[in-house]
Amino acid sequence: MPSQPPKPPPTIPPEDHIFVDNVKKSFGKNQVLHGITMHLRRKETAVIIGGSGAGKTTLLRLLIGLEKPTSGHIWIDGEDIGVMNEYELNRVRQKFGMVYQYAALLDSLTVFENVAFPLREHRKHMSKKEVRDKVVNMLELLGVKGKENHMPSELSGGQRKRVGLARGLMLDPQILIYDEPTSGLDPPTSRMVDDLIEETRDRFGVTSVVISHDMASTFRIAHQAFLVIQGRVVAHGPPDELAFGDNEVAREFIAASGIGPDRISRVDTHRGFNAKALEEASAGALGK
Ligand SMILES: Nc1ncnc2c1ncn2[C@@H]1O[C@H](COP(=O)(O)OP(=O)(O)OP(=O)(O)O)[C@@H](O)[C@H]1O
Ligand SMILES: [Mg+2]
Repeated sequence: MPSQPPKPPPTIPPEDHIFVDNVKKSFGKNQVLHGITMHLRRKETAVIIGGSGAGKTTLLRLLIGLEKPTSGHIWIDGEDIGVMNEYELNRVRQKFGMVYQYAALLDSLTVFENVAFPLREHRKHMSKKEVRDKVVNMLELLGVKGKENHMPSELSGGQRKRVGLARGLMLDPQILIYDEPTSGLDPPTSRMVDDLIEETRDRFGVTSVVISHDMASTFRIAHQAFLVIQGRVVAHGPPDELAFGDNEVAREFIAASGIGPDRISRVDTHRGFNAKALEEASAGALGK
């Protein structure tokens, strides 16, 4: 049963793929989210950053309907998922693809079987040939062709990510959720994963939601970053604005991550940041 009656839909900007509307979440007496509001725009990459225990994973679980808000609403394509029954939720969940931390491949299955897994679960009508073609095509698109019969243990970290992403794309999602996609990877591999997130967005037109502790990656891929601290969004905006804007908490959080202006100037971003302008802005913002 829904925890609260449906309310008339607010005016949701058409570019909002996901609108998180004043969401609170408690587990027993422990209030974890204290009124989160976020507009996640279609075909953009939103990166959720924040300290350990801030509520990021809880927020993700709410987005994909695994938990219900204690109050507030989550609108996906203009539909309130908080009032949906399990059947309707399953329809909405099909819009999502998940790419898990460390790729979460099943070690006892080949690459082919790992990637085919969602089709075997959710596309039972597909013929053997259709499954094979879809899996092989996707592996080729993602640059891991010819690895079908390998076991996950025979892949590099970057290849595992590609295979995990191929699996996440099997059901043609509109929204891709990445949980810590670069954690545990060396910087060149992280950069490659960032490129992959960007290419995937361009190629498939997906909206991407990324949870990350990796500030260099956030600068490379985020259109919007949301800084969550103790269950509240304390700052949001393009990462350069957070790093060098008026919000002191955001500036300090980013500075503490070790990403200073010199580091950013070496980050080859997709957002076309002007490194020199950034350095000047930061010198101003930091009063140097
Ligand atoms: N199912 C649950 N039952 C009770 N408490 C929970 C549950 N899920 C999360 N919490 C609590 O919510 C708080 C936030 O947890 P969450 O996993 O969302 O943090 P996080 O931001 O993802 O942290 P990290 O960066 O360490 O992964 C924690 O205090 C956690 O104990
Ligand atoms: Mg977490």
